[in-house]
Amino acid sequence: MLSYRHSFHAGNPADVLKHLVLFEVLKYLTKKDKTLEYIDTHSGAGMYSFSSNEAQKTQEYEQGIAKLWSYSGNNQTIKDYLDLIKGFNQNDLSFYPGSPAVAHNVLRAQDKSWLFELHPQDHGHLTNNFRPTRKRKVRKEDGFQGLLALLPPISRRACILIDPPYEIKSDYELVVKTVANAYKKFASGTYMIWYPVVDRERIVTMEASLIESGVKNIHLYELGTSKDTEEHGMTASGMIVINPPWNLAKTMDEVLPELVDYLSVEDGFYRSVELVSE
Ligand SMILES: C[S@@+](CC[C@H](N)C(=O)[O-])C[C@H]1O[C@@H](n2cnc3c(N)ncnc32)[C@H](O)[C@@H]1O
Repeated sequence: MLSYRHSFHAGNPADVLKHLVLFEVLKYLTKKDKTLEYIDTHSGAGMYSFSSNEAQKTQEYEQGIAKLWSYSGNNQTIKDYLDLIKGFNQNDLSFYPGSPAVAHNVLRAQDKSWLFELHPQDHGHLTNNFRPTRKRKVRKEDGFQGLLALLPPISRRACILIDPPYEIKSDYELVVKTVANAYKKFASGTYMIWYPVVDRERIVTMEASLIESGVKNIHLYELGTSKDTEEHGMTASGMIVINPPWNLAKTMDEVLPELVDYLSVEDGFYRSVELVSE
């Protein structure tokens, strides 16, 4: 089943949290000169235009990046993220970078990237936006299997984003299984797992499975724009980070309340939790 298209959702509150964390982690990991490998298991199209029919149909970005665009606070992490998004735009907010674009903004000449995307059309867009090179591979293959085949990475330094659409409910279990297997092959990588809160029970189960998986040093950052509901639709989303930069928890403890202030619709909230210690 491949009906999910990220162009309907680009720039929503979930993307804001996901890309802010991704940007922060990559900035930290690229402080060392040594080659870093970036693996994006579910890349999407790479770049999005808010004038597309898809973006205009849902206008989800209005609840996310558009609300934050006028940010007047002092949080440097949020300001850095906004500068990143501004770098893809002229004066008005017209474009939004997907995870490959966020990553390539930070990656250096010595780094490598692996971009997986299964949807034929989005794979086409991705290839146009990010031409394959010797150091950049763009694959129309399953990202879960692709990740496992790449580990351990040659450089022994890697940052992995796992961002599936969760269209198939078994994706929640598959994510945990894949991460546990990946960790056995390569325990020192920084893994980032995005998740949506549509049905809280699924996330409770996912967290419990991760805690029992044997994986160490797991942190979770969640942003809810409204409280959990039994009704249909995503009300919150989170990033689970394995082996995060040492200062990420402190950074997110300062960022998350501000994101709630700007993006909450009603009864917004955040969670910043250490699921498993080092
Ligand atoms: C949430 S979107 C990715 C968004 C992107 N990571 C970003 O932040 O800009 C998920 C993408 O995964 C793709 N996809 C679904 N199943 C996949 C699989 N097994 N392997 C690789 N890509 C897949 C979908 O076509 C979709 O484009």
